[in-house]
Amino acid sequence: MKRIILTGDRPTGKLHLGHYVGSLQNRLKMQQDPDNHVYVMIADQQALTDNAKTPEKVQKSVTEVALDYLAVGLDPEKTTIFIQSQIPQLAELMMYYLNIVTVSRLNRNPTVKSEIQEKGFNESIPAGFFMYPVSQAADITAFKATHVPVGEDQRPMLEQTREIARDFNRIYHTDALIEPDIILPPKGHGRLVGIDGKGKMSKSLNNGIYLSDSADDIQKKVMSMYTDPNHIRVEDPGQIEGNVVFTYLDVFDDDTEKVQELKDQYQKGGLGDVKIKRYLNDVLQAKLQPIRERREEASKDLDAVQAMLKAGSEKAEKVAAQTLDEVKNAMGINYFK
Ligand code: TRP
Repeated sequence: MKRIILTGDRPTGKLHLGHYVGSLQNRLKMQQDPDNHVYVMIADQQALTDNAKTPEKVQKSVTEVALDYLAVGLDPEKTTIFIQSQIPQLAELMMYYLNIVTVSRLNRNPTVKSEIQEKGFNESIPAGFFMYPVSQAADITAFKATHVPVGEDQRPMLEQTREIARDFNRIYHTDALIEPDIILPPKGHGRLVGIDGKGKMSKSLNNGIYLSDSADDIQKKVMSMYTDPNHIRVEDPGQIEGNVVFTYLDVFDDDTEKVQELKDQYQKGGLGDVKIKRYLNDVLQAKLQPIRERREEASKDLDAVQAMLKAGSEKAEKVAAQTLDEVKNAMGINYFK
């Protein structure tokens, strides 16, 4: 069966290894299946809901994210890559959905709740930020997405989207909107830990390895990685749990036998941190070098990147316009037909 897949990223910086294992790899696989129609959206409007005063950061990040997409091998021939703000129908859909969503329901959205805490909004929550789950419902339903690959933290958004689609269809006696299913990242690939071992890899924690990092930067970061603080001498037995080097080897090294061997040796004692870090460095360099090279190549012609985004946005707009038309028909507000 044909699947319509839609996902996206907030452009607030370059993409890192956490994005790579958590979503990009999965998208690459999905774009290979001719039964999938894959849309990838750069959610600049959503990024602006909490970056209103720094639009230039968002604008710059749109290009960076697009370069990251091309670098990992997202293929604009197979995947429709577009920019949220260039599809006015999304905002229009949101306008109608807002009428069937209550403020108390938005207040109960756990992701929004915890983000309000994290960002320290207190009583000064931007209204646009508060409503972004409805905007996200518009993104998803505009393309009649059947599947939305996102992290576990996005589950409440999907639940709310399903509710909106269901309520809209019931109220207006239509089947214009589709209730999408969530696709979670493969086991262990969900929230990649940062190089400090403290929390999920993120820009704010400054613990990331970026797809655009130089070979030198990668090496420095690997060498500074959190391991087992009690593994002092090479001959001491070391801990695997919480040891970032082994976490990354589990995720990035395809040679699982070799990784098991290293783990056994490390736990027994006799394997030094420098050695496993050098090994991990080789593994990461081999993965990231072709990505970095493709990125450098693509960044030589930013006009072509712009043209790619424009073509994708035009394609996406046609689809969203069709859904908006159905929505307005269902509501009886297509006056001049
Ligand atoms: N909220 C998503 C995130 O922070 C980004 C996003 C915006 C998105 N619109 C979307 C993801 C629609 C999937 C579908 O990662």
